[in-house]
Amino acid sequence: MEKGRTRVDLFEYQARDLFAKHGVPVLAGEVIDTPEAAREATERLGGKSVVKAQVKVGGRGKAGGVKLAATPDEAVARATDILGMDIKGHTVHKVMIAETAPEILEEYYVSYLLDRTNRTFLAMASVAGGMDIEEVAATTPEKLAKVPVNANEGVTIEKAREIVAQAKFPAEVAEQVAEVMVTLWKTFVAEDALLVEVNPLAKVASGDVIALDGKVSLDENADFRQPEHEALEDKAAANPLEAAAKAKGLNYVKLEGQVGIIGNGAGLVMSTLDVVAYAGENHGGVKPANFLDIGGGASAEVMANGLEIILGDPDVKSVFVNVFGGITACDEVAKGIVQALELLKSKGEDVSKPLVVRLDGNNAELGRKILSDANHPLVQRVDTMDGAADKAAELAAAK
Ligand SMILES: Nc1ncnc2c1ncn2[C@@H]1O[C@H](COP(=O)(O)OP(=O)(O)OP(=O)(O)O)[C@@H](O)[C@H]1O
Ligand SMILES: [Mg+2]
Repeated sequence: MEKGRTRVDLFEYQARDLFAKHGVPVLAGEVIDTPEAAREATERLGGKSVVKAQVKVGGRGKAGGVKLAATPDEAVARATDILGMDIKGHTVHKVMIAETAPEILEEYYVSYLLDRTNRTFLAMASVAGGMDIEEVAATTPEKLAKVPVNANEGVTIEKAREIVAQAKFPAEVAEQVAEVMVTLWKTFVAEDALLVEVNPLAKVASGDVIALDGKVSLDENADFRQPEHEALEDKAAANPLEAAAKAKGLNYVKLEGQVGIIGNGAGLVMSTLDVVAYAGENHGGVKPANFLDIGGGASAEVMANGLEIILGDPDVKSVFVNVFGGITACDEVAKGIVQALELLKSKGEDVSKPLVVRLDGNNAELGRKILSDANHPLVQRVDTMDGAADKAAELAAAK
């Protein structure tokens, strides 16, 4: 099973910042989230700007999310139009106020990506860039050059010239585009990206070549060596349950199903997912709703935090708590469950979903007795893993 997301897509303004950091030519731009802020930002740019919706979906221009503003007042008006707009199901919460490019003469496309199928990196480039690049790729693929890049050799200026030649860039911009390909490769490598894309890379009236729009996806698996990347993650938009779990230090991943899962130890939780999915086949195909490992030393508080996240998931119909007592003995875990339910009730949480608890290992007998004595109406004890999984699946299916 793949745990968690592995790819973090950035907003255009974040891509712009990374490009600037590594020497890819970009225009000035700042991100704002109120219409009024568009005025000052536009004034800072000399009185005119381009107002650009910041959403992580393509086709913003065609959807009306990219507008020129000739005055600061117009920028406020365009920002008013665009903020709150829905673009393909994405609400616009931020806009970038960008410097207006000098007259655009041509629009090109360049990118690097990890080509998993061919186990290599790939450079792509086309002189037919702009808003219709998807169309170009689909109908006239010969206009999109694809050049494998060896990870060890990288993109030297010579390699970049090779890419540019294959894509048949006009002579007067070839060297500039090659230089962009080198700095864009630096961005790709230095930021541990899975994709860096510039569309359009525009040739403007001055003859300069400038990145007017950028897309970057970062490899989340490299976060350990990219401390600055955490700030780029869009926590609110990512799964809110995962964000809440992360804030509580829980190892939680939201899945598609209906049976909430809590266990101690990643291995046990993984096998619990399998057992529940298997049991679910006999109960209308219900599936695990999440992965949640509360770890070895799970206190009542950790149990309460875990239960709170899981019970807060509207998809969850029943919960399976599967604990193998080790460092933390089962009696502690049992007390934790009882306290957690009380704690949640006292906090006014809606605790109405059935819990199936299986305790085994260190002090299991004592733990089971604690649960029996507490006699909580929502808690059922089942002492085998298969039996408990079956019960939890049955309860989820019955809801
Ligand atoms: N700063 C700018 N100055 C002048 N024109 C711009 C600027 N930024 C974008 N444009 C024009 O607007 C068009 C669309 O902009 P952009 O590429 O950023 O959005 P998009 O392609 O519609 O969005 P996406 O890449 O998400 O599909 C560009 O092709 C370019 O012609
Ligand atoms: Mg674009």
